[in-house]
Amino acid sequence: MAFPVLLFVLLFPLVHGFTPRITAVVTGGNRGLGLAISDLLAEVGYHVILTARNAEEGQARVADIQRRHGQNRCEFMALDVSEPKSIKAFVDQMKRNEEMRGGVPHVLINNAGICVRDEDAAAAVEGSGGREGVYRSVFDINTWAPVALMEACLPGMCKHGFGCIVNISSGDGELAYLHSEVAKRLKRVRSLAELKQFSDWVAQMQQEGPWPRGEGLAPVSWPAYSFSKAVLNAATRLLQSRVDALVSKDMKVRAHQPRIVAICPGDVNTAMCDEHAAHDALSPEQAALDVVWAVLHSKECHGGYFYRARRAIPW
Ligand SMILES: NC(=O)c1ccc[n+]([C@@H]2O[C@H](COP(=O)([O-])OP(=O)(O)OC[C@H]3O[C@@H](n4cnc5c(N)ncnc54)[C@H](OP(=O)(O)O)[C@@H]3O)[C@@H](O)[C@H]2O)c1
Repeated sequence: MAFPVLLFVLLFPLVHGFTPRITAVVTGGNRGLGLAISDLLAEVGYHVILTARNAEEGQARVADIQRRHGQNRCEFMALDVSEPKSIKAFVDQMKRNEEMRGGVPHVLINNAGICVRDEDAAAAVEGSGGREGVYRSVFDINTWAPVALMEACLPGMCKHGFGCIVNISSGDGELAYLHSEVAKRLKRVRSLAELKQFSDWVAQMQQEGPWPRGEGLAPVSWPAYSFSKAVLNAATRLLQSRVDALVSKDMKVRAHQPRIVAICPGDVNTAMCDEHAAHDALSPEQAALDVVWAVLHSKECHGGYFYRARRAIPW
C-alpha cells in the first residue's frame, strides 16, 4: 500500500468519526479517473456508490472493488448523466436508500464527462442540431448534470451538516483561456439561471465556428469542453456561496457546512487524454490521490476554490 494511501486509512476515522457507511457517489465510475477514485475511496473506508451508464460494465467494476476491499465497500447504481430521466431515477433511488443518512451521500464526485474535438463539432454542422447541438450536449453532460446532482444533494447536506462535493474540472476551463470579453461576461453571472442563459448564448454563437480564445493564445482543439468546464467552475462558486449564505448566521452549522470544490486533475492517462500529453500524464491512480485528498482534508481544501496538485489555482 502506497504511503499516502496508508496515511488516508489512518486519518480516515479521525476525520469522519466511526459512523458506519459513510457513502460516496462517483459518476462515470466504470473506467478512467472515476474508477480509480471509486477504488481509492473504497480502500480508505467509504461505501462507494459507483455509477455508470453501462450497467454490465459498472457491475463488473463493482465486483472487482468488492473483491479487493470487501463486499460492503461498493455497490452499483445506474446513471446516464445525459438523460434527465436517469438523473431523476438515480436521485429517487438515493432517497430511498436507508443506508444513507437523509438519502444524501457524504461525498459526491462529479466525474463523468466527455470531450468533443472541434473537427467533430464541425462535422455535426450538417447533422441534427449542428455545432450548437454539440455544444449543448457537452454542456448537459459536463455542466448541467453535475449541477442537477449538486442541487439534489445540497439541501440534505446542509440540513445534516456534512458533505463534500468535488467537481472534476479542467485547467482548460480557466477564465484566462477564454476571450477577455467572454470571461468578463461570465464573471458578471450571479445566479444559476443567468449561468444557463450564458451557456445557451455560448452554444448559439458557435454555429458559424468557434470563438477565438484568450488574447495571444492558440485555438484549443476542444472549445466546447473548455466552455463546459469554465461554466462548471462558475456553478461551483455560485453553489458554494449559496451554501455559505444559508449557514452564515449559525456558527455551529458553519463548522460542518458542505464544501464544493473544483479540481483540475492535470493530464491523466485515460481514453480522454490527448495523445501528445499521454507521455507525461499521471496514471488515474496518481490523479485519484489528489481528488481523495480534497475529500479528506477539510482544513486545507476549502469550499469555493479550484485546485490542481493540492494547490489553489486561479479560476
Ligand atoms: N484525462 C485527462 O487528462 C483529464 C484532464 C482534465 C480533466 N479530466 C476530467 O476527468 C473526468 C474523467 O475523465 P477521464 O479522463 O477518466 O476520461 P474517460 O476515461 O473518457 O472517462 C469518462 C467517464 O465519463 C463517463 N461518461 C461519459 N458520458 C457519460 C454519460 N452520459 N453518463 C454517464 N457517464 C458518462 C464514461 O462512461 P462510458 O464508459 O459509458 O463512456 C467514463 O466513465 C472528466 O470529467 C474529464 O473532463 C480529464
